[in-house]
Amino acid sequence: MSQDRGSFGRLGFVLAAAGSAIGLGNIWKFPYMTYDNQGGSFVLVYLLAVIIVGLPIMMAEIVIGRSTNKSPVSAFLQLHHPAFSIIGWLGVVTGFVILSYYSVVAGWTVHYFIKGVYWSVQGFTSAEAATLGDQFGAFISNPSAQIGYHALFMGFSVMVVIFGVKGGIERLTKILMPVLLLILLSLVIVSMWSEGFTEAMGFLFRPSKISPDSLLEAVGHAFFTLSLGMGAIITYGSYMTKKESIPRSAAMVCLMDTLIALMACVVMFSLIYSVPAVEREQFSSSIGVMFTTLPKLFYGLPGGIFLAPLFYILVAFAALTSTISLLEVVVAFFIDQLNWHRVYATLVMGLTIFAFGILSALSLGALTGLSAWQPLGDKSKGVFDTLDYLASNWFLPVGGILIAIFVGWVLPKVFSRKEVEKGHGSFHLHGLWIFLLRFVAPAAIGWIVYSVIFLGKSYN
Ligand code: TRP
Repeated sequence: MSQDRGSFGRLGFVLAAAGSAIGLGNIWKFPYMTYDNQGGSFVLVYLLAVIIVGLPIMMAEIVIGRSTNKSPVSAFLQLHHPAFSIIGWLGVVTGFVILSYYSVVAGWTVHYFIKGVYWSVQGFTSAEAATLGDQFGAFISNPSAQIGYHALFMGFSVMVVIFGVKGGIERLTKILMPVLLLILLSLVIVSMWSEGFTEAMGFLFRPSKISPDSLLEAVGHAFFTLSLGMGAIITYGSYMTKKESIPRSAAMVCLMDTLIALMACVVMFSLIYSVPAVEREQFSSSIGVMFTTLPKLFYGLPGGIFLAPLFYILVAFAALTSTISLLEVVVAFFIDQLNWHRVYATLVMGLTIFAFGILSALSLGALTGLSAWQPLGDKSKGVFDTLDYLASNWFLPVGGILIAIFVGWVLPKVFSRKEVEKGHGSFHLHGLWIFLLRFVAPAAIGWIVYSVIFLGKSYN
């Protein structure tokens, strides 16, 4: 007897998938990428990438999941295309790998939330402001702090996933997503009063210079931020009921994800542009910007004592709704394929990923051997960076291209049409959708894979 897989209630899918999509990628990675790529035009290209590559692939993933009600490996077996279950295997490995280092950074946000509360209560002194960089450096190279917060975050994720689709994932995302939106909205409103607001809007929406590399970065990021290419959306799609519309749900998730990313940019750039130009040098793409620079800016604003803790709790919430989707992919595999009990699968895999993640946690300065490890030459440095490089440049694009090819070329058109039309009614854009999956998405992603292999580029 196999256990009940569970399913989402109304809006459950949209909120859970948006929760998966909205994460560190939106609030931390996208703003610094936009900053590095000179704003305006990069944002525009990114929007295009979301619409012509991200949205069609998201729909493809939902179709695979919902038509089979299975997690990726089992889904392709059920569709009688066992060769494509490689997508599922790759997805389980990718989920495992991404979660192992993502949880480390997510843990930092918890630490900084606590720090933020402390600063707000005790006062954020100029001595504190002057040593933010050193404090961050000391924190990420402190082994017990790194392992501790990583453990804490994995613990939170396990606690949610253990309660299953409805009682865990849906229940949490239904609470956290509105809260997240509310916090971010209030931060946006506050930032409208900062000096840098107008300049920030100009930077974000005025056309700017753009290079071919930025184009690729935009496509690559669209994948990461929408949680595509590794079966997370296939898995969540497998819990979606036939009453829900696939195109509308996918469009909503893409829209929410993009809105949140843009709002995060408005907040950060308003703060950044409130600082004199000479001091802005420090805001380049470094892993620590959010922790070494933002506090200074927050505490300089009226009402600053509320902003820093609110901001870090916001990021922690966003990260949690993402880590649970990564864990769910791995757990669902063991439930569907090996018939493990959910509680057992979650505990065992949560613990295993935690253990593996210790390597990343200690590779940011705590253990020289792990920090200096360079198996791929100058592509990456240290375990953390190497895993992020592999996932963003290899696993996700390869998974994405295979998914596009599968639904574009292999799955019969009548099959995909029938599935999309359940809960939606007749779908007039079916031809366009298949066209994007057949040609546009593989070409765009193929170009990424090509330039990673032959031109030695990297996009994380
Ligand atoms: N999309 C999340 C973010 O932007 C990260 C994430 C969650 C993810 N699940 C994923 C990325 C699956 C790739 C694949 O932070």
